[in-house]
Amino acid sequence: MMNTVITIDGPAASGKSSVARILAQRLGYIYVNTGNMYRAMTWAVLQTGIDPNDMDTVRSTAEGILIDSPVADGQTQVSVNGRRLTAEDLNSDPVNRGVSLVARVPEVRARLVADQRALSSLGPLVMEGRDIGSVVFPDSPLKFYIDASEEVRAARRQAQGHTDQVAERDRLDSTRKASPLVIPEGAVVIDNSHLTLEGAVQAVLDRLPAIPVHP
Ligand code: CDP
Ligand code: CDP
Ligand code: CDP
Repeated sequence: MMNTVITIDGPAASGKSSVARILAQRLGYIYVNTGNMYRAMTWAVLQTGIDPNDMDTVRSTAEGILIDSPVADGQTQVSVNGRRLTAEDLNSDPVNRGVSLVARVPEVRARLVADQRALSSLGPLVMEGRDIGSVVFPDSPLKFYIDASEEVRAARRQAQGHTDQVAERDRLDSTRKASPLVIPEGAVVIDNSHLTLEGAVQAVLDRLPAIPVHP
């Protein structure tokens, strides 16, 4: 049986992780942050000292790295070769700079997409990323695209204390050949530039049809 999957996509720092996490808590669904899987792979690739611009070396290095996403407290907690990474590891400056380069490698994506699909056997999911509604679960009837203006997104990321060139990551993510960031067919677009976080969550809830809830 295929469980319900709510897909949430959007550009960097638009608010999709926060919205997805709160939504999952309210519905009793498992929250899956797929960006952290690409970030974990990037963290591990950088540990080997290679240049993330070199696609061939990234491809061969990534083959030997095991990314695992066990569920704890209702959300996936990504680990690399059995080691659970911290939020600081996942959001470090080098990872912010390298992640869109690692994520453009088709073989890296194929592996992580297979892992993401397999998570739906565990229970109903709220899964967020860049290609969840377009590639990972294209048949889901519950798709959202969370947007915000570039200025608002840069300010939100800065307020989190990270130096993160969100415009450059968006450019790479939107122009790559393999599964670029797009508004998935059938997705409800919510621009939350001028909404509070609670307002953004409510906007998603208002657009959801009646679905099973497991609080
Ligand atoms: O949180 P933020 O929006 O800054 O980024 P993220 O969701 O943690 O994703 C980090 C990077 O991983 C993105 O910039 C993409 O390059 C890549 N990514 C992807 O390619 N596909 C996904 N489903 C999720 C993330
Ligand atoms: O996952 P993504 O990178 O898209 O964004 P996020 O990490 O969920 O949100 C970035 C920051 O913006 C967080 O500190 C959120 O609390 C904040 N935010 C906000 O202030 N108002 C919103 N409507 C949405 C997010
Ligand atoms: O410990 P807690 O989940 O309260 O906070 P955190 O460690 O700052 O993690 C923030 C978010 O990152 C969580 O919501 C997790 O979904 C995610 N995370 C992850 O995916 N994998 C990890 N190894 C650590 C955190």
